[in-house]
Amino acid sequence: MPPAPASTEIDAAVAALRRGEAIGLPTETVYGLAADASNADAVRRIFALKGRPADHPLIVHIAGAEQLSRWASDIPEAAQRLAQRFWPGPLTLILKKRREVPDVVTGGQDSIGLRCPNHPLALALLRAFDGGLAAPSANRFGRISPTLAEHVREEFGDAVPVVLDGGPCAVGLESTIVDLSGPTPRILRPGQISRGEIEALIGTVESGSGEHSPRASGTLEAHYAPRTTMRLLGRPQLVTALADAQAAGQRCALLAIEQMPERGEGLVLPPRATRYGHDLYAALRRLDALGADLILVEQPPAGDDWLAVNDRLRRAAAGAGADSDEDGT
Ligand code: TXA
Ligand code: MG
Repeated sequence: MPPAPASTEIDAAVAALRRGEAIGLPTETVYGLAADASNADAVRRIFALKGRPADHPLIVHIAGAEQLSRWASDIPEAAQRLAQRFWPGPLTLILKKRREVPDVVTGGQDSIGLRCPNHPLALALLRAFDGGLAAPSANRFGRISPTLAEHVREEFGDAVPVVLDGGPCAVGLESTIVDLSGPTPRILRPGQISRGEIEALIGTVESGSGEHSPRASGTLEAHYAPRTTMRLLGRPQLVTALADAQAAGQRCALLAIEQMPERGEGLVLPPRATRYGHDLYAALRRLDALGADLILVEQPPAGDDWLAVNDRLRRAAAGAGADSDEDGT
């Protein structure tokens, strides 16, 4: 466990939140850009800072399952079970919202995303604040999520003066989102908590977005993207693409698994899904900063444990490159 957070730091963050400001918040998944979820103006500020469309709902972070009823109007048995088992932790539950929840938080939908993050600083802050914190990932819309405090400073600079530094995020990929607001439970976004772990508790769940599913920007085809054009290729195709690009005089930055191909330059990540996921966003940021012509990413294996990693890589490749960025960051 990291040392107990200095109370002056928490006090300063609480004061900023009470003034209606947005702050950088460490969680175990990625850093959030947090504001008082009961203050509509403060929440609007998050949308403005991120450049996020107003109809994309935010997750409200709470101190524990006992606070679910402050935000949700209907708490099914499945929600209680999942919260008891996985909170604090990387799981977001979508439930029917209470009428009092400001529309700006939920993008006008009648459901709300709720999560209790497993990070000592976030939990200390939530207890001291004694309210909900609306917090999307602390990146500009469509861009790579931050897993270090300095990533948040890079994204927002002086516009977000208070960034709590909680060190590197332990998980590194966003929470699993389970929608319990519709007729059947559905996974809207894969994360470290797997479908199997969820089904063991609440029975069969669907995945992907269904006919009745609410909107989730993490489900947009182009998201989590570097500015450099990025291609996702199996190892043999990657080696060929590298040779072709080099022959054409292009500079390539590689993200390889376990071992860098001959004449390749870039970063190597471990062949274990949890460790790869932990390092992925920081690696993409570093490769993007090299200003190469092309980022070539070696496609990880297809197994269930790689689902969240492969989901983020596919969307990053779809959104990469200034010209193909449709997210209007
Ligand atoms: O791990 C995480 O979940 C991080 C940390 C900061 O907690 N947060 C995060 O927030 O990833 P954001 O805003 O980048 O992604 C939240 C996702 C979006 O895809 C959003 O559309 C979806 O959650 N979401 C939020 N409320 C929802 C709702 N009522 N219905 C459907 N989707 C919702
Ligand atoms: Mg995000």
